[in-house]
Amino acid sequence: MDVEKVFHMNGGVGKTSYAKNSSLQKKASDKVKHIITQTVEELYIETKPKSIGIADLGCSSGPNTLSIIKDIFQTIQLTSHKIMHHSTEFRVYFNDLPTNDFNSIFKALPEFQKLLNQDRKNGFPSIFMGGYPGSFYGRLFPNSYLHFVHSSHSLHWLSRVPPAIYDEQKKSLNKGCVYICDKSPEVVSKAYSQQFQEDFSLFLRSRSEELVVGGKMVLTFLGRRGAEHVDRGNSFFWEILTRSFTILVSQLTYSAPLHNITQQFKMDMTEGEIEEEKLDSYDVHFYAPSREEIEDEVTKEGSLKLERLEMFEIDKKEQGRESYGTEVAKAVRAIQESMISNHFGENILDNLFENYAILVDEEIAKEDIKPITFVLVLRKI
Ligand SMILES: C[S@@+](CC[C@H](N)C(=O)[O-])C[C@H]1O[C@@H](n2cnc3c(N)ncnc32)[C@H](O)[C@@H]1O
Repeated sequence: MDVEKVFHMNGGVGKTSYAKNSSLQKKASDKVKHIITQTVEELYIETKPKSIGIADLGCSSGPNTLSIIKDIFQTIQLTSHKIMHHSTEFRVYFNDLPTNDFNSIFKALPEFQKLLNQDRKNGFPSIFMGGYPGSFYGRLFPNSYLHFVHSSHSLHWLSRVPPAIYDEQKKSLNKGCVYICDKSPEVVSKAYSQQFQEDFSLFLRSRSEELVVGGKMVLTFLGRRGAEHVDRGNSFFWEILTRSFTILVSQLTYSAPLHNITQQFKMDMTEGEIEEEKLDSYDVHFYAPSREEIEDEVTKEGSLKLERLEMFEIDKKEQGRESYGTEVAKAVRAIQESMISNHFGENILDNLFENYAILVDEEIAKEDIKPITFVLVLRKI
């Protein structure tokens, strides 16, 4: 499957949309906001651009991208006032895969432009904004076009499921798991790690050509604490997804329902075995790298200086009346629905994510789970 043709966050502003279910990502962005604004300030002082180019890579269609662009714009306004240098143009490029719901962003732009205009001084800078569809694993922009690149919660998505996890008959070697798990053979974790290296190095090389000298990037994405792939952080959430699938398969095979499944779903699946095979052939195009893996790729690339690499954890304070499990289930659904419905059909979604929410709540009641996030600041040298 060409994942980049299928994968997209749930569009629009409905109940299951990414726009309505991305508060966990927003919480993480808020934690690194000071790093973003400090980096923008430094690069502005250093490069004093006439026309400043900013790109948000993997912007999706929720409010998070506009919120970060607003912070960047305000920082530039404050800094330009401080150093008495005023850029005449502020260019913003919203990038994501072509499958992304760019329309939702475009519809929000006129209001957003008005909001930014309130902070403009003496009519400067002129503001230009547009969508830039395409994979960030490759060139997107002309040479020396950008001063600042931001990307949040996007770079843990690989360009594809690593081909080396399939045997000659195209059967997955990662049976019974959707991501690297306890029982995954070593070849599976190696294949994921290699795919990350290939993708991340291409990302760095491409951005390096697009950034001006002194230009900077702030990249925030999920990772893991150490060399071990299987942990209670990020791989745990995939383990819960596998268990949620398994409940649906076992309900069908052994008629032992744990939670209700719809009649439609029962009718769609006539053979439990076949569905188990479907589960075996479902693998995610995700990878949580370690600090060392990230540093190695930056060093190998050679034209970017790693100015900062920090790891942080998101506390899981419950918001409103919903449990943490429900909040996570909604977020994962908004992200994974396109891939799951393409592989299994959309009838399983409600039950799958109901089970998912219950399992997450059960597990966090036993032991705390702390997803790991990295934030990197890179400078073009
Ligand atoms: C979880 S969303 C993050 C959205 C937003 N940055 C935020 O923090 O809320 C991840 C986004 O990365 C995009 N993405 C994944 N792989 C990509 C690629 N190769 N090129 C461009 N965008 C990609 C996805 O389509 C998705 O919209």
